[in-house]
Amino acid sequence: VTLDQRIRAVDRNAAQSLTAQLVDAVTEAIASGELSAGEKLPPTRSLAALAGVNQLTASRAYHRLQEVGAVVSEVGRGTFVRTAAYPGQHPNAADDASWQTYLLPAEAGGESGRILGELARHVDAADTIPLSMGYPPDAIIPLELLREASARVLARLGALSFAYGPVEGTHELRAELAKLGRERGLDDDPDSIVVTTGARQGISLVTRALLRPGDKVACESPTFMGNIEALNAVEAQLLPVPVDEHGLDVAALEQLLRRHEIRLVVVQPRAHNPTGFDLSKERRLQLISLARQHGFFILEDAVYADLRFEGEDLGPLRAIAPTHVIYVDSFSKTFGPGLRAGWIAASGPVLERLINEKRNADTHSATLPQQIVAEFLAGGHYAGQVKRARAMFRQRRDALVQALEEELSAFGRFTRPVAGGHVWLTLDQACDDARLYREALAAGVAILPGRVMLVDRPHSTHLRLSYCRLEPALIREGVGRLAGVVRALHAAPYARQSLPLN
Ligand SMILES: Cc1ncc(COP(=O)(O)O)c(C=O)c1O
Repeated sequence: VTLDQRIRAVDRNAAQSLTAQLVDAVTEAIASGELSAGEKLPPTRSLAALAGVNQLTASRAYHRLQEVGAVVSEVGRGTFVRTAAYPGQHPNAADDASWQTYLLPAEAGGESGRILGELARHVDAADTIPLSMGYPPDAIIPLELLREASARVLARLGALSFAYGPVEGTHELRAELAKLGRERGLDDDPDSIVVTTGARQGISLVTRALLRPGDKVACESPTFMGNIEALNAVEAQLLPVPVDEHGLDVAALEQLLRRHEIRLVVVQPRAHNPTGFDLSKERRLQLISLARQHGFFILEDAVYADLRFEGEDLGPLRAIAPTHVIYVDSFSKTFGPGLRAGWIAASGPVLERLINEKRNADTHSATLPQQIVAEFLAGGHYAGQVKRARAMFRQRRDALVQALEEELSAFGRFTRPVAGGHVWLTLDQACDDARLYREALAAGVAILPGRVMLVDRPHSTHLRLSYCRLEPALIREGVGRLAGVVRALHAAPYARQSLPLN
């Protein structure tokens, strides 16, 4: 149906008034997409002629359309469909949110954004094995210890457990975090620490404090998708740096530094998500030396660093160059993701900027969880907790690596993580990873398509598989299902055609 047809269909003998019929004709044309935002509507005279009504009726209809927000009339130019035009048939229905579609800006991240939005829904879906999720299992949460810590906090602090607190975080928690830092080779006092709502907020605060639209950032590719989202949110210009079994390719970074003024380098030097590799000793020193020579910040993310199965722990990068390295961490992977207990450690003028960004973001992180975490740490429970988590995750890593060797080694290569929670798989034959994701879901296994973790466009087909959350038997079942999908994709004609992965 076209707008003209709808207008011609106006019926003098209908119960509805002619004006109302014209209003409906236009709103329906908007709702169905026949008329798009900004499109010009016929002049009143033409509208009247088309509908077989007088001009007064036509102009009354436009007036009404303007009142309900469907069109705008601009003097001397005409009548246009509003950018935020209400597309529904019932412009005043309070519960119809469809008008938002017209007002919201273009979706950031496109397909990747949609997939990320979907992911959390697979976590507990009965028929889907979530190899896609970096969530630790609920069984790792030390419920009894946290219950006791909570009771002690409430008894000691009473109403203050629920009061406003300092922007930077409670004194108790920052003191405990400084103590933990010293055990890890850091030299931060509590004043260098800002408590955040998860490490994810820490990343956002760093990007907001350091970057303005167009500023250049070198970022590991692949990387944690939260980094890409946070950097896109501040409209930074992302420059990808490859990652191999020795971590960030520092020689490639050096090449970039010759041509670009880089403000920030985003890196996970230990237990990189998704590869599970570390930045080598040699490259760490090269990276720090480049930071000093060129003057850029390093965002060091260490959320998986304590979950090490093998290899030497080289400690935080921040320990080597505290004025260059801003350290972000959390307890999400080790004992309580829902506590949203993260923190930043930073030195120099950037610290004050970070505190301002924290205030601007959410005033401060919730008081009670901060005090519970402080109590848990003060009780000396962290080391034992990490030991338990490590043992559990190591067994799960072994199960995933073995299943991949048995089922998928004929189709590609995969990393054998020394730490962390993920394996990065690269298929020998290119196929559309978004399609692979959908077909895997249909087969009852969720994977993370590699492109959502890549800063540049993919050159081959990658996927990330995560093992922490799942029992070994489920991991094996999930890989079995995935292998079925990969085999079918390789046999199907569309898998052979070369896809736009340039
Ligand atoms: C590398 C990395 N950094 C940061 C985060 C965010 O952690 P949090 O849950 O503490 O916000 C994650 C979580 O998936 C991660 O994998």
